[in-house]
Amino acid sequence: MPAISIKNINKTYIDQDGNEVQALHDINLDVAEGEFVCIVGPSGCGKSTLLEIVAGLLDATSGEVLLDGQPVHGTSRDIGVVFQDASLFPWRTVRKNVAFGLEIARVPKEEREERLKRYISMVSLNGFENKYPAQLSGGMRQRAGIARTLAMNPKVILMDEPFSAVDHLTKCTLQEELINIRQAENKTVLFVTHDINEAVFLADRVVLLSPRPSTIQKIYEIPLEQKRGRSDPLLLKIAAEIAKDINSGGQDIPNNYWGNL
Ligand SMILES: Nc1ncnc2c1ncn2[C@@H]1O[C@H](COP(=O)(O)OP(=O)(O)OP(=O)(O)O)[C@@H](O)[C@H]1O
Ligand SMILES: [Mg+2]
Repeated sequence: MPAISIKNINKTYIDQDGNEVQALHDINLDVAEGEFVCIVGPSGCGKSTLLEIVAGLLDATSGEVLLDGQPVHGTSRDIGVVFQDASLFPWRTVRKNVAFGLEIARVPKEEREERLKRYISMVSLNGFENKYPAQLSGGMRQRAGIARTLAMNPKVILMDEPFSAVDHLTKCTLQEELINIRQAENKTVLFVTHDINEAVFLADRVVLLSPRPSTIQKIYEIPLEQKRGRSDPLLLKIAAEIAKDINSGGQDIPNNYWGNL
């Protein structure tokens, strides 16, 4: 049974002028347990919309999402979400931010301490536990946000351009940390990015969405181990193929939108 099953999802928004904006058109996708799937597509095609529907934060116009065979209705502890901006509570320290969900879920103190230690160390924030978000770099805040999500031990992690606001080197480090975490924890991950290089580096499969109304234009298998070289010739070949398919789809995007290919 797939961990996530996206079935015939359609989403039409009504904008401020009362016009219909069809974001998603008949999206069907199964994600296997432990699989890492990246979603790429042009700005405004509906990537965040799709992720929010899977997260149970937004209702689809039609269709359904199943998690382990059960329909998703509203948010669930089994689904963890990491957005572009870590949105930490500024008045709580790193430790208290990571602990937040655990406190709400009334996880007993001993287990809470254990999880805090494990995940703060997993994202390499040892020594920063008592700092406030304003005292951290953007990359560190993002790591604290990831630790907060992981600490809840969700089956599925949804990430929406989580590294797009950090500098290149930090982004590379965070990508490598995510691969390590994924290997250690065997999570199912659905990851939105507009950076093709990032997608092929991280994913088992890359799903390309077409411009709006968005459909699945193509799916690319990445037949490499999770730990792979960034300049593996096969990766570069697949990245170039994705870029070519995007261009042939006539997608109107800035030259450097997809990262440096
Ligand atoms: N609440 C809303 N009301 C009306 N239209 C909306 C709403 N939210 C999103 N849209 C429209 O739906 C489309 C898809 O938006 P979405 O944010 O999912 O795109 P995206 O692929 O995540 O874009 P980006 O790469 O820029 O983050 C866009 O055209 C957007 O303007
Ligand atoms: Mg988006």
